[in-house]
Amino acid sequence: MPNSSSSTSSTKSVRRAASELERADSITSLKFLGRRQSLIDDARKEREAAAAAASAAEATEQIVFEEDDGKALLNVFFTLSSAKTQVLSRTLKVFETFEAKIHHLESRPGRKLKDSLEGLEYFVRCEVHLTDVSTLIGSLKRNTEEVKTTKEVKFHWFPKKIADLDKCHHLVNKFDPDLDQDHAGYTDQVYRQRRKMIGDIAYRYRHGEAIPRVEYTAEEIGTWREVYSTLRDLYASHACSEYQEAFCLLEKHCGYSPDNIPQLEDVSNFLKERTGFILRPVAGLLSARDFLSSLAYRVFQCTQYIRHASSPMHTPEPDCIHELLGHVPMLADRTFAQFSQVTLTISHWASDEDIEKLSTLYWFTVEYGLCKQNGELRAYGAGLLSSYGELVHSLSDEPERREFEPEAAAAQPYQDQTYQPVYFVSESFADAKEKFRAYVTGIKRPFAVRYDPFTCSVEVLDNPYKIQGGLDCLKDDLKMLTDALSVLA
Ligand SMILES: [Fe+2]
Repeated sequence: MPNSSSSTSSTKSVRRAASELERADSITSLKFLGRRQSLIDDARKEREAAAAAASAAEATEQIVFEEDDGKALLNVFFTLSSAKTQVLSRTLKVFETFEAKIHHLESRPGRKLKDSLEGLEYFVRCEVHLTDVSTLIGSLKRNTEEVKTTKEVKFHWFPKKIADLDKCHHLVNKFDPDLDQDHAGYTDQVYRQRRKMIGDIAYRYRHGEAIPRVEYTAEEIGTWREVYSTLRDLYASHACSEYQEAFCLLEKHCGYSPDNIPQLEDVSNFLKERTGFILRPVAGLLSARDFLSSLAYRVFQCTQYIRHASSPMHTPEPDCIHELLGHVPMLADRTFAQFSQVTLTISHWASDEDIEKLSTLYWFTVEYGLCKQNGELRAYGAGLLSSYGELVHSLSDEPERREFEPEAAAAQPYQDQTYQPVYFVSESFADAKEKFRAYVTGIKRPFAVRYDPFTCSVEVLDNPYKIQGGLDCLKDDLKMLTDALSVLA
């Protein structure tokens, strides 16, 4: 995703950025292909695949279900016009036959049969194997009347507790050095082997473990040094103040220096104390849904390998330079961390189409966002802060800059051949967060969720009792704050 180069002054930086752009123009577009096509492209493909599947399944029943280990959660309504016990018994036998686990069963006088004491409407919420849903509905239709399911709302499995992130490891591997012929490491067997070895750490990793340390080679440290030294000179004039403050702390506490590639475990412990964010290793470019779901738990999935030494300015996929220089400093800021987590909790229930829009918003904020500070423009996006050429370009006179409006940003085409022609500027992170939240509120949802920071789990708020539980917690917090105010007074 990012690219960088080295320089020691702003003038040299601009010159080098210009030469980088010229180089980009002179080489084939394939060189940049994929650099931009990560989360958004991935999300779009997911949506297209889902649309194709939905169209293929048009003839099936309309149900509400939640995929989780092959099980479907089904809401079904039916009417029994006869109150005879054996009719109900025969109907319940249908559920028994399919080993459906009944979560809820209730009845009420049938609307069409109000004047008659006979007919009853039933509502059953049950868990049944996904492959049995159609047959079960068919059996119910033979035994009952007016079988209805609610409007189809399919939603994906999502992690309900932080340890579930062990299952969020779906990679988009088309930019891997093993598959992408344009990857600088494609013909380098030694690099590919090294990349695989570091990737295996992520595959074996389980939540709660310490992140294994990597002993980086002299060549890898050399690549890091070139990018680090170049970008560090630019931060004072191009990065937002929050980034600069965190960067100083990372140099002081986490081994950030030109001669050392910081270890993820040290950085994770630092972030945990600052904002509650933690890192976990990932073997490559993660799918959009898994990546966004992790952020909802304040977990940042972080690559540990580094780009090929022959291409320090560019990599088609995220690497530790992009993560450690681009993302980590911003995750150390409380407001930004909250922005990353709260807004992306919605990824749990978002449709594929919404995930694509969220990925685009993520792209124009967390990756390529600009903000205003003391009358000047500064970068806060990780794609900018880890990419020498684009960082200079973004604050130059060349690109168009627009005020950040989520509706517009979510529909803005992104550039996948060279630098962005358009950037979105936020007044502040707080302003971006509020606008993002307002945008999210407008998205149709099948349910709401609440994150419990004590258990690091997500609760689906699908009945009034759960909402009452949330309100009780809120009351306790409000009381504590009221007490604090009275102490101050
Ligand atoms: Fe990124």
